[in-house]
Amino acid sequence: MPEQNVKWPFLPAQTPTEITHAEGAYLYRKDGKKILDAAGGAVVANIGHGRPEVADAVRGALVNASYVIPLWLTPERENLVNELTTHWLPKHLNRIHLASGGSEANEAAVKIAIQYHASQGNPKRHKILSRSLSYHGTTITTAAISGHLSRKKGLESILDTYHQIKTPNPLRCPLGRHHEDATSYYIDDLKQTIESVGAENIAALIAEPMNGSSGGAIMAPPGYWAQAQKILKDNGILLIMDEVMTGFGRTGDRFGCETFGIEPDLMVAGKGMAGGYAAIAGVYGREEIADSISAGDLQVMFHTFGALPQSCAAATCVLEILRRESLLEKCKSTGITLLNRLQDQFSQHPLVAEIRGQGMLIGIEVVKDRDTLEPFARGEDITNKMMATAMEAGVFFYPGGTGEYRDILCIGAPYIIGETEIELMAHALDKALADISSK
Ligand SMILES: Cc1ncc(COP(=O)(O)O)c(C=O)c1O
Repeated sequence: MPEQNVKWPFLPAQTPTEITHAEGAYLYRKDGKKILDAAGGAVVANIGHGRPEVADAVRGALVNASYVIPLWLTPERENLVNELTTHWLPKHLNRIHLASGGSEANEAAVKIAIQYHASQGNPKRHKILSRSLSYHGTTITTAAISGHLSRKKGLESILDTYHQIKTPNPLRCPLGRHHEDATSYYIDDLKQTIESVGAENIAALIAEPMNGSSGGAIMAPPGYWAQAQKILKDNGILLIMDEVMTGFGRTGDRFGCETFGIEPDLMVAGKGMAGGYAAIAGVYGREEIADSISAGDLQVMFHTFGALPQSCAAATCVLEILRRESLLEKCKSTGITLLNRLQDQFSQHPLVAEIRGQGMLIGIEVVKDRDTLEPFARGEDITNKMMATAMEAGVFFYPGGTGEYRDILCIGAPYIIGETEIELMAHALDKALADISSK
């Protein structure tokens, strides 16, 4: 880091970190320290760092044709579409719109949902429902939709208010912790929200199949999704699944939709699509949605860099590696071992409210009082303190929560990790918990 005139990042970090290189599941700091990337960056890296064949694929694409307008086909785009439709996407989602990141793709999905209803002669159906605890992106619309107050600060004057349903959260269900009626409680909330907004005004609900870092791997109670989908369908409301974080194997299945038995109308996935080797994300939609928009003579505008041939080549190569090396199966089984290991040692810890998750997306929720679930005061900055201690112990966890909802450490490690890495995480978590306990 230049000492005289630090210009990175835009806002100075409390603890500047300089990474010189990365390999496999490890990052190497400038001071020589080796850090386990238990966060996979921002829950992105799935095959691990530094795979030369992905670099070769990108190089091949770059020398073949550096830039071609996104609407035209190139060999790299064709290969990616084939890989996606043959091996990854649910069969009913066969229309693909590519973007360069999750926010851009979610914004496109919201527009597509609204345009679909307009093309059906229902322009009044333009409201988007979202969830109270959620993150969908950083553009004006996706930030406004998100249930993430700390990321909206200072923007309140420009962000529209969207109707939100309650994020189904079994731990903190007002009826009681993991209450047997939690499903009905949250389903009633969905029904009431639809009734008060008016189904005839609603284009879509956008939701993650399970919370990413906003809530730290919160999963809906059993049966929630089956009932929620039926209600949406009966009311003509589209379901947009935001799988930016959960997509491409993170839950141990191809998509969270598969894990939780969800059949969305539009699905959005990014991060793991190219495992961090390129900036690419996709909106995957039902044919009838695309056909209707097309018949209505409406446009789905492309993003200039949305389908760069080199990004498509990186994504295809990463997706092939995931399949060839059976990394989804590994993610699922290692995820179970990791979750059990952490729960065995820490779930009775006086400061641990819950350790939950699926595959390689795990959240550790820390509270001041595990009986009442009272959080630590915001000013205590527990998440950052724990992350700093864990870093010193050689592990990078991802910070979760929204500021209002806290304190959460997330694990989003590459799917390639094994016993050594599990033990390293347990050791770092032990240190982090001991550190805040002693204060
Ligand atoms: C669920 C979810 N949706 C959308 C986004 C935004 O994606 P991006 O940062 O690529 O714009 C994120 C990023 O963390 C995310 O986790």
